[in-house]
Amino acid sequence: MDPIRNPYAPGAGQRPPELAGRDRELDQFDVVLERIARGRPERSLVLTGLRGVGKTVLLNALRSQAIGRLWGTGKIEARPDQTLRRPVAAALHMAVRELAPRHRDPERIDYVLSVIKAFALRDSATGSGPGSKTVPRWQPGIDVPAARGRADSGDIEIDLTELFTDAASIGTDLGVGIALFVDEMQDVPTPDLSALCAACHELSQTGAPLIIVGAGLPHLPTLLSSSKSYSERLFRYHRIDRLDRPDADLALTAPAQREGVDFSPDALDALYDAADGYPYFIQAYGKVAWDAAPTTPITAEDVKVAAPEAEAELAVGFFGSRYERATPAEREYMRAMALLGDGPVPTAEVATSLGRRPSSLSPARDSLIKKGLVYAAERGSVAFTVPHFGHFLRSQPV
Ligand SMILES: Nc1ncnc2c1ncn2[C@@H]1O[C@H](COP(=O)(O)OP(=O)(O)OP(=O)(O)O)[C@@H](O)[C@H]1O
Ligand SMILES: [Mg+2]
Repeated sequence: MDPIRNPYAPGAGQRPPELAGRDRELDQFDVVLERIARGRPERSLVLTGLRGVGKTVLLNALRSQAIGRLWGTGKIEARPDQTLRRPVAAALHMAVRELAPRHRDPERIDYVLSVIKAFALRDSATGSGPGSKTVPRWQPGIDVPAARGRADSGDIEIDLTELFTDAASIGTDLGVGIALFVDEMQDVPTPDLSALCAACHELSQTGAPLIIVGAGLPHLPTLLSSSKSYSERLFRYHRIDRLDRPDADLALTAPAQREGVDFSPDALDALYDAADGYPYFIQAYGKVAWDAAPTTPITAEDVKVAAPEAEAELAVGFFGSRYERATPAEREYMRAMALLGDGPVPTAEVATSLGRRPSSLSPARDSLIKKGLVYAAERGSVAFTVPHFGHFLRSQPV
């Protein structure tokens, strides 16, 4: 069928034509926004799940919801080894800019912007902190001079708390709040993660209307609780998972129907078999099945004809791009994992199957975790962050 009208959207962060199966999260978030705007206690939110289940697109949908309620919003994508200062400053700058036109007191806005600037410039990596002699290599695009003595102590925990408190006050003035979205939250460096928890903790005690909405891999809750023991009480965790059969069908049929196209029941069976409910795979198989079908309805035969193309695309774009990031030692480790099964596997068994001492494999395991390819599941075991990765590895030539 006409490829130009093909509605499906495989790709990281690509907005799906139908956001299926996430009504519960969207509804709950509405309540959270309303409660926080009214100064009621509410926990910040953290979405966790495997690669490609739709964390980023859900985060974006929650952000739209906050914008719809006239909140100020900003988003960052954490990266390993990158301190939060610049990205958080840029995100809050954005949030305050969204609110500024409705605020009656421009001086108050300028003050908060000056605090954001002070916070950003304290970044040691810029070489432009107070007292620094080096030429600033980076300037936040804020026109007012940086504040002094606020959010610029150099202690990220104190500085984040002051920054959040001041930013939130703009929300309070307008009867709304500020939401900071943090994608790939497992990559936030440990000291910053701990400071983020502390700042949230402080703000939740004063009822200041600022929340963090995070998204990350399944081990993110463990990281948070090891950085601050009280983090379980700060965050509400939502496990984002594969779609069940009715939602997986809806993700395919709703966009097609809007184009006047149907699926035969056996085509939906075949697509569910192939995609296993994983949103990324649903988009990938939906896309090729549409292109392969000569006419509506899309049939099981069309799916069969198209499947190899989807597999080839996934092998390159979804699996291959990640596999490429691993060193030979890491690949060997993952291959051993894959041969042991698809669920979490004990690290001791990986070592045994490779005929190595567990301690000698720790570097490979740790760097795979850092690269986001595997995560530490239950005590002493590891699992792939990428669904069907074991199957992919087993099908690769050695
Ligand atoms: N609820 C949904 N219904 C239908 N399709 C979805 C849904 N959620 C996500 N998708 C599709 O799945 C794909 C992956 O989504 P997204 O990039 O948000 O996943 P992710 O969990 O952030 O993955 P990663 O961990 O790799 O960042 C996209 O093509 C998106 O359109
Ligand atoms: Mg993502």
